[in-house]
Amino acid sequence: MKKGFVKIIAGLMAGMLLLGGCNATPKQSEGPHDVPLTITADFTKKENKGNWVTYGDCKITTKDGKAIITDRKASNCGIAIPCPDYRGNTVKATVQATTDNDSLMLSLRYEIFGNVSYVNIAPGMKNDSGVIDITGSIEIPANAENSQIYLEASDVRDITVNSFEVSISGELNNLTGEPVETLSDPSQVASLSAAYADYFKFGVASPATVMTNKNDGFRSLIKTQFNSVTPENELKPDSVLDAEKNLADPAKYNEAPAIHFDAAKPILDFCKENNIPMRGHTLVWHSQTPSWFFYENYDVNGNLASRELMLKRMENYIDSVINWCETNYPGVIYAWDVCNECIDDGGGIRQSYWTQTIGEDFVEKAFEFARKHAPANVQLFYNDYNEYQGSKQDDILALLAPVAAAGNIDGMGMQSHISSGLDVDNYVGAAKRYADELGVVIHITELDVQAPKSVNSMYDQGVYMKKLFTAIIEADKAGVPIECVTVWGLTDDMSWKSSTKPLLFYGNLTPKPAYEGVMCAVNGGEVAKPADWVEPKSDLTPYAEDFEDQKFNGGPRYSSVQKIVGDAYEGDYCLENSEGYAEYDGYAVDVSSFAGHTIHITFAIKSKCDTCKLTADIDGTWPTIAEVATADGEWHFVEADYEVEDGMALQIYWESTDMNPFYLDNVTIEATN
Ligand code: XIL
Repeated sequence: MKKGFVKIIAGLMAGMLLLGGCNATPKQSEGPHDVPLTITADFTKKENKGNWVTYGDCKITTKDGKAIITDRKASNCGIAIPCPDYRGNTVKATVQATTDNDSLMLSLRYEIFGNVSYVNIAPGMKNDSGVIDITGSIEIPANAENSQIYLEASDVRDITVNSFEVSISGELNNLTGEPVETLSDPSQVASLSAAYADYFKFGVASPATVMTNKNDGFRSLIKTQFNSVTPENELKPDSVLDAEKNLADPAKYNEAPAIHFDAAKPILDFCKENNIPMRGHTLVWHSQTPSWFFYENYDVNGNLASRELMLKRMENYIDSVINWCETNYPGVIYAWDVCNECIDDGGGIRQSYWTQTIGEDFVEKAFEFARKHAPANVQLFYNDYNEYQGSKQDDILALLAPVAAAGNIDGMGMQSHISSGLDVDNYVGAAKRYADELGVVIHITELDVQAPKSVNSMYDQGVYMKKLFTAIIEADKAGVPIECVTVWGLTDDMSWKSSTKPLLFYGNLTPKPAYEGVMCAVNGGEVAKPADWVEPKSDLTPYAEDFEDQKFNGGPRYSSVQKIVGDAYEGDYCLENSEGYAEYDGYAVDVSSFAGHTIHITFAIKSKCDTCKLTADIDGTWPTIAEVATADGEWHFVEADYEVEDGMALQIYWESTDMNPFYLDNVTIEATN
């Protein structure tokens, strides 16, 4: 048993028995029990007996070995496979479904020390035959309880599930019977917000479950460490729009949607009682907004609302949300994210229900309404991700130019979901550019930093955090108006990207080297090397794989799936990459061990698509290494050279430009200097 693990407390055990049922959940102290490596939903059997459960407020009937989900009250209502015994493992989930929804999403839900976390695993889009296939992998934290993998959608239309399965990837780590780790007391840990008082607010995103949690540690952590709080989900349209009222009486609420704050109240109360200012997140967004909101009479089977009607709904929504908060919690919310993520990943404005109903000036309109109805001292923000990338900066600046000219925006929110290879000068350069060109202040709104996949991962992340915060402090001193830095979650285990361990505190509330790095940036000093630190060796061992052993060393990029198949370039086997939902969902290989060297790469590739590419993934830039015309469907042998930057977690990946499957064989990578 690991050090630091203690016997489970009686109260928790009682809770587990209540949830799990006496027969179903063996007592944790009884030691490990057998765990099936695969859990398959059986739709010829009833809920629970068939390994599946109803998730949220909806109805599921089974017919012909399929599950039909109807009466879905919200987009996150669907079907789940409970997999509590899979904690501490990487699991793979596969689902096949049909629906009139635009897209589906596989997600993970678990409880951890009384908090609930939701993590998206993989999205899925319809293929040519109208079917949605999704496969994705996720690591479930060791302390997670009651984990469920569930299928949700972009709106409330019916879903038919043909098949659904969750399985253990690789070797099973059997943590059944392992007691849950105990929480540490964070009250004596030096305060981030106090250390940064001369520069900017230090904020955190939190779910409202923290406020009702029987463990005081999480609240104590917020109170001692942070002086700004963002509700992680509770002020999003999905939470605020009152589905029951609007859908029951659409005529009454047609222009002025009914709203409620049931989810947000506990966190608003907490901020008010503890005098912690709040960032309101977020008013207008394409995501986490129910699709019925955009239809005439809130009926998804009818027509989309007209521009005129949608403008009224938008204005009334913005007005009523801001003013309900102001009336009931005066002065608590000091900034609102008015519009979130309005630029498309491919560039230009993102097409969404907002553009379909109102048109491309919906951002200008949203800010106009927010300015009209918000108190003068409440700051209005635009918020987006990948905001440090050059072309995205251009797009955001173009989008916001008229908003700034009208005097309706006060701040740029840089989400900053980054990894520890991003060039820090480039990053603060983006902050300066937004501030200079728009004349606004800067909030870093959702910072999380993917840990590098290096041998000293946590320590290396800490060293990067020092570098990043040193650059942020320097920029702030040089006049870039950075007024708040918010980290997107309290602990790694509670993060929406928990597998990447991107935050400042471990799941049990002890500070990580990442926290230390942030502190060193402001106080001086170096991140301490942990006792288990190992000397990283420069490993220039050539890389080669011909797939003849029917294995592969690389892995999927996002939602792609790799299989070993026949019809090889040489020998019996090659690798097939398929099922991606975007062209960049390819096959990726880590080349970090070659950092600082030039590599010579050879490979054979075949596909029916016009072009295949080998691309590098260097934090927010994707330079092309080689491009091959593949329309002839034949094998092509390719050689290329590439200078691998000094850094961490560097990857190269193969992709096909139209999402046709591609085949790869005889891959070699060798350092040439
Ligand atoms: C995320 C939350 O952290 C998750 O709990 C939820 O399931 C999905 O949304 N950009 C944003 C945030 O603006 O609102 C998102 O938050 C993360 C990406």
